[in-house]
Amino acid sequence: MAKRIGVLTGGGDCPGLNPAIKGLVNGAHFGGSEPWEVIGLRDGWKSLVQSDVVDRGPNGQCGPFFETEQFWKVLGPGEVEHWDTEGGTNLGSSRTNPYREGEVQEKTVLANIEALKLDALVAIGGEDTLGVAAKLHHAGVPVVGIPKTIDKDLPGSDYTLGFETAVQIITEEVDRVRTTAGSHSRTFVIETMGRHAGHLALQGGIASGAYITLIPEHQFNVARIVRLLVERRMRGIRYSIVLLSEGAYSETMDGPYTLGSIRDTGFAHVALGGIADWLNQEITRATDWDVRSLSLSHLQRGGAPCAYDRRIGRLFGRGAADLIRRGLSGHMVALRNGTITDVPLTEVENRIQTVDVEKEYDVHRYNARRSNIV
Ligand code: F6P
Repeated sequence: MAKRIGVLTGGGDCPGLNPAIKGLVNGAHFGGSEPWEVIGLRDGWKSLVQSDVVDRGPNGQCGPFFETEQFWKVLGPGEVEHWDTEGGTNLGSSRTNPYREGEVQEKTVLANIEALKLDALVAIGGEDTLGVAAKLHHAGVPVVGIPKTIDKDLPGSDYTLGFETAVQIITEEVDRVRTTAGSHSRTFVIETMGRHAGHLALQGGIASGAYITLIPEHQFNVARIVRLLVERRMRGIRYSIVLLSEGAYSETMDGPYTLGSIRDTGFAHVALGGIADWLNQEITRATDWDVRSLSLSHLQRGGAPCAYDRRIGRLFGRGAADLIRRGLSGHMVALRNGTITDVPLTEVENRIQTVDVEKEYDVHRYNARRSNIV
């Protein structure tokens, strides 16, 4: 029987989402004996908590982005043909949490899924979005997940969409900073994203050759950092790059440095940021050097997906269509040991995949030089 599948993207955007949507649409249309229809839902879970979502659908011809009043539209292979080359998400995203106010919104979501005649739902997201997907599965909705986050902190999959593009961007930006750091004999402290996990900083640090990398999983000691920097100067190298995750913090702090604001009401995440500036001041205080700091911030999530995110995005999208065809609800598409497979969402729910400090991180030199984990 022909099916109608809804797809949404939730949480922070990243390159790789549009390729996954294209993979899903093509998998739905061409992967079985008859084509299935795919409905793109706007702004993550926000679309499904609208009381009038059914009326806010296609209104004549529409372009690649949604019109202001529109919350869903039909996605055909023609429309998504070039989406694999495009960054961000053409469906829009939000951090709306339908469970923030208990079950009231769950009822609206369930009613909307029925009213839109969706036979299954594909949620593309990280811990928050997939957490909601798991709850809906428990509530009886046929739902499948696709893992994405530049932080790569989701368990169950060796890869999450957006990570490789972000590492590439970090590498390119550090390359740029390095030449000016060298010219002026400066020390640069550069902040990457990475809330709970240091994968981004660690792999970005390896690829760009940062001298020191600091991660949330191991609290750093400022005196040790200064000692390492002085040691490098004494070897005749007049500049240094220190790369650190936004979630990294010193032994003297109780937790990560925050910007003090709640980023989004949905999942109540406090905005992290500012640790690079803090460390800059500490190093400046301890030396008489010219130290500068900068945050790569959303540059890491912007622009076109790299080749790997296009390829894995496509495979994850097709994989999601296959899972629905196999009738497997409550599962997430995953990459494991080089193969596209799937894991139950319960393996992912409320869990974070952090850096294995013992295997991946040198707590004396503050880098990943000896790690062979990718
Ligand atoms: O969720 C991934 C992430 O990139 C985190 O590393 C970071 O803290 C957060 O997104 C930033 O989100 P926003 O774009 O909502 O500020």
